[in-house]
Amino acid sequence: MKISRLGMKLFISYFLIILISMGAVWIATRFTTPTAYQRHLSFMEQNLEMGNSAGAGQGNGNGAGMGQGNGLGRQGQGNGMMSQFYQDYQNSFNEALLIAVIAASIVALAVSVLFSRSMVSPIRSMTKASGRIAEGRYDERVELNGNDELSQLATSFNQMARQLEQVENMRRQLIGDVAHELRTPLTFIKGSAEGLMDGVLPASDETYQQIHNEAERLSHLVDDLQELSRVESRAAQLDIRAVDSAAVVGTVARRLQHQFDAKRVTLVTNLSSVPVSFLADEGRAIQILTNLVGNALQHTPEDGTVTVSVMQDRSEVRISVRDTGEGIEADHLARIFDRFYRVDKSRSRARGGSGIGLTIARHLVEAQGGRIWAESEGKQKGSVFTFTLPLVK
Ligand SMILES: Nc1ncnc2c1ncn2[C@@H]1O[C@H](COP(=O)(O)OP(=O)(O)OP(=O)(O)O)[C@@H](O)[C@H]1O
Ligand SMILES: [Mg+2]
Repeated sequence: MKISRLGMKLFISYFLIILISMGAVWIATRFTTPTAYQRHLSFMEQNLEMGNSAGAGQGNGNGAGMGQGNGLGRQGQGNGMMSQFYQDYQNSFNEALLIAVIAASIVALAVSVLFSRSMVSPIRSMTKASGRIAEGRYDERVELNGNDELSQLATSFNQMARQLEQVENMRRQLIGDVAHELRTPLTFIKGSAEGLMDGVLPASDETYQQIHNEAERLSHLVDDLQELSRVESRAAQLDIRAVDSAAVVGTVARRLQHQFDAKRVTLVTNLSSVPVSFLADEGRAIQILTNLVGNALQHTPEDGTVTVSVMQDRSEVRISVRDTGEGIEADHLARIFDRFYRVDKSRSRARGGSGIGLTIARHLVEAQGGRIWAESEGKQKGSVFTFTLPLVK
């Protein structure tokens, strides 16, 4: 017979253990009691005989034969009594043993049921909870106290459920955010096309330019989303090798210089006096720094300054971008690396920003073994963005 239920298996194993031990007790007592009894009996008989022979020695010569005959008769009587006594004793012993075995079996039955139930009930509740999670109810948890393996399993189960819930929330949030981000330019393009068709909007260069700008923003957003999904799933291929920090800073400065000139913001590069090399994918390092310097330029008004500095720490290189611009208030600081997070949504969007740049930067830095963070004294006090990458040993 194949038993498929754990509770039944546990119950039967408990019960069998108890029955087998009781059987062993029964068999052991059955075999050892007669020999033990015989030993004690012969010991008693020896004592009796010794008492009788001492009595016979004390009597006179005439009474010797009689005394011996009487003695033998008493001995025969005594043996008969002893075997009768042994028979009675064995019967009462068997009866007591039988009652004890029945009582112990009932207790064993009750204890086995209790124990097997208490072992199986947490597993049952975990099975139920996992079934509900599979149905999409991610708020499901298992309540278990204690410190044994089952409680540890329940703790890991709850952790898994919490993570699934987080991933599900993020997925929902992402779909909502993406839909929202796509809707704004699409509504504009659709509205403009309708306006043009109805003749409400003039077919001017400016109208076409605006439609083109919105389409451009859409394609920028789609590219960013694709990049984000690549870096988040760690599918981005990284070609890690020794990279010269001066080369990276120089490339970014050259690329953005004309935008700085156009906005009349000064770009200062503060390189270390000795050459500093770090381990990274050069293209990705340039991408991260371009993102930070581009942001700094966006948020720094005319006549401001953006300074890029390279410092060497014990085991890492620190590249920081300091600006004298808008600054970031403390409650926003913690969230600016979240995807789609923008301090001033409408202004950022008007500038073409979708709030993904810093999220991509953070994933890229972390994928290369570094850290990234932002500091700011507050509004209008400028900000500093710093990232680290491992030094070449
Ligand atoms: N140097 C800075 N000074 C002030 N605020 C900043 C600075 N850099 C980033 N921020 C804030 O952080 C937000 C997120 O930046 P992030 O680069 O992720 O998005 P974005 O620049 O708006 O869009 P994009 O995805 O095109 O980069 C910005 O919208 C801005 O509010
Ligand atoms: Mg940006």
